[in-house]
Amino acid sequence: LKHMLTDGDRRNLDTVKSRLNAFDNSRTQLIPILQMIMAVCRFVPTEAMEMAADHLGLPTSDVYGVATFYNQFRFTPPGRHPIKVCLGTACHVRGGDIILENFARRLEIAEGETTEDREFSLERVACIGCCALAPVALVGDDVHGNMAPSKTEGLVLRYQIEKEKAERDGRRTGDDDHA
Ligand code: FES
Repeated sequence: LKHMLTDGDRRNLDTVKSRLNAFDNSRTQLIPILQMIMAVCRFVPTEAMEMAADHLGLPTSDVYGVATFYNQFRFTPPGRHPIKVCLGTACHVRGGDIILENFARRLEIAEGETTEDREFSLERVACIGCCALAPVALVGDDVHGNMAPSKTEGLVLRYQIEKEKAERDGRRTGDDDHA
């Protein structure tokens, strides 16, 4: 699955390309190369896997196979506001999965995906240790307790309004993810 690349991604891919030369073209370098890609791009774009395959003289499917074997690599760009819905036991019994569903519907993405504007990503997490507030969702580092389906809309809106306000104030002009 290829993601639409931002200008920032393209610059990162150029960096990956130049850094690849520092690696031997031995198969043992595959993990270190993938780690370098993660450090540069914050995810492993398909294009970067193709570059790695090219450098090592391996089929892209081999690179993909190794990369997907390890949890440390992600294949979707992280959202600026990663939303994590707790599905630990306490949150699950209090309808955490419905919260997850509501975010998915509101953002029009599935779990594990990122919105096209890279603002939000959505995933499930295990207990984050504040079961008394179940069901719980995290947006970035902010904990939102006693979540209800009706609260998901307001939460997304709040971050969107903040974004628009920041854009109006021109505070995001230095953001390299934006063209
Ligand atoms: S189960 Fe969700 S915070 Fe513990």
